[in-house]
Amino acid sequence: MTEPTTKILFAGDEKITATAVRRLLENEEWECCFVHSADQALEILAKEPIGLLVTDAVIPETDGIALLSEVKQRYPNVIRILLTGPAGHEQVTRALTEGYAQQIIPKPWIDQEFKEIIHSALRQKTQQQKYGQKFQALINSIPLLPALPENYSQVQGCISADEVDIEKMAAIISLDVALTSTLLHWANSALFGQRFRVDCIKKALVVLGTDIVISLILSEAVSQSVAGSIPPIDGFELNNFKNHSITTAIIARLLIKSLHSADNEQQDRAFIAGLLHDIGKLVAAKYFRVQFAAALKHAAQQDCPLHAAETEIMGVAHTELGSYLAEWWALPHFIANTIQLHHRPETSPVEPEVINAVYLANQLSYRFGYGCNGEKIERQIEQKLWDRFYLSGEGLEILQIEAETVMQVLCEV
Ligand SMILES: [Fe+2]
Ligand SMILES: [Fe+2]
Repeated sequence: MTEPTTKILFAGDEKITATAVRRLLENEEWECCFVHSADQALEILAKEPIGLLVTDAVIPETDGIALLSEVKQRYPNVIRILLTGPAGHEQVTRALTEGYAQQIIPKPWIDQEFKEIIHSALRQKTQQQKYGQKFQALINSIPLLPALPENYSQVQGCISADEVDIEKMAAIISLDVALTSTLLHWANSALFGQRFRVDCIKKALVVLGTDIVISLILSEAVSQSVAGSIPPIDGFELNNFKNHSITTAIIARLLIKSLHSADNEQQDRAFIAGLLHDIGKLVAAKYFRVQFAAALKHAAQQDCPLHAAETEIMGVAHTELGSYLAEWWALPHFIANTIQLHHRPETSPVEPEVINAVYLANQLSYRFGYGCNGEKIERQIEQKLWDRFYLSGEGLEILQIEAETVMQVLCEV
């Protein structure tokens, strides 16, 4: 992947840290500058467009944490990384909980690990540059972006370029009783067109396909991680959120099926993007609770779409937060794209079919009564889209019955 032309500023003691970092990075094409005090760092930041700051916890005159805190306040768009040794445990906790640093590089570092952290921060910066200043400041106020769930990474590890280790994948999934039961229900639902009963996880993996399975693991794990960590928010309820995401996925798949009955890949894409389309709301609920609650209230009072209220109050909408997270996790591009455009599909430059299906499914999920999820407005859907997916006449009724049938099977979980 091409790295951006982001400038990196290193602050640290000349003799120890800076020399070692210089040597480590001499073959990289990054534009770096080195300073040895907090004052020098702030001087450079005032003059030059720095994208990334890496500071040692120990720098002459002041400490690295104080510098990070200052930079967070004055230059919130700069990504901040702290280099610290084992003795600095308290400092690390403070730097992370206060959101002064977004990443930590432990000392002594492993060269490869050091470079990977810088690479990943640069990728993060490139992604951020696609969004506005306000977004960058907001996202950089989060201490650490959520990591991919462990079982997701384990299951991903069973997939190589030319084969999938179904045995190993089934063994990993079988350890999780709730997940096993959920996947069996999905595999037995009419949505995946199975005529015979699927009674073991291996068969379920074959019926569902690995893409669907890992997207279900991801959405469940992310909801779980948020479930344990947020106090209730008026107008946003996690069960409603899950129901809404699941029905949007089901309806989106059925809509694509009505156009391309034999194209399983496209149907799966619609399902996956539908399942994850509102994931940005979880980011908003977890990290920007107060503003998100205000946006929900504003949307309800003003009778305006939630994403418009979020932009007015937080400066960014759940569509941007979600697509950023999908990019950060390196999920396939169509997922980030659909998340970003699911409220304005008409602006999609390419492949609008999945985006249109998710847009419509999102609206229909509310209309069919599955989870209000902060978005209560009955919106007008363009007639041409209605016609495109055969929803005029009896089409809508048939779709609703099909979606309800699938939901009934899943509710037995
Ligand atoms: Fe949405
Ligand atoms: Fe939605």
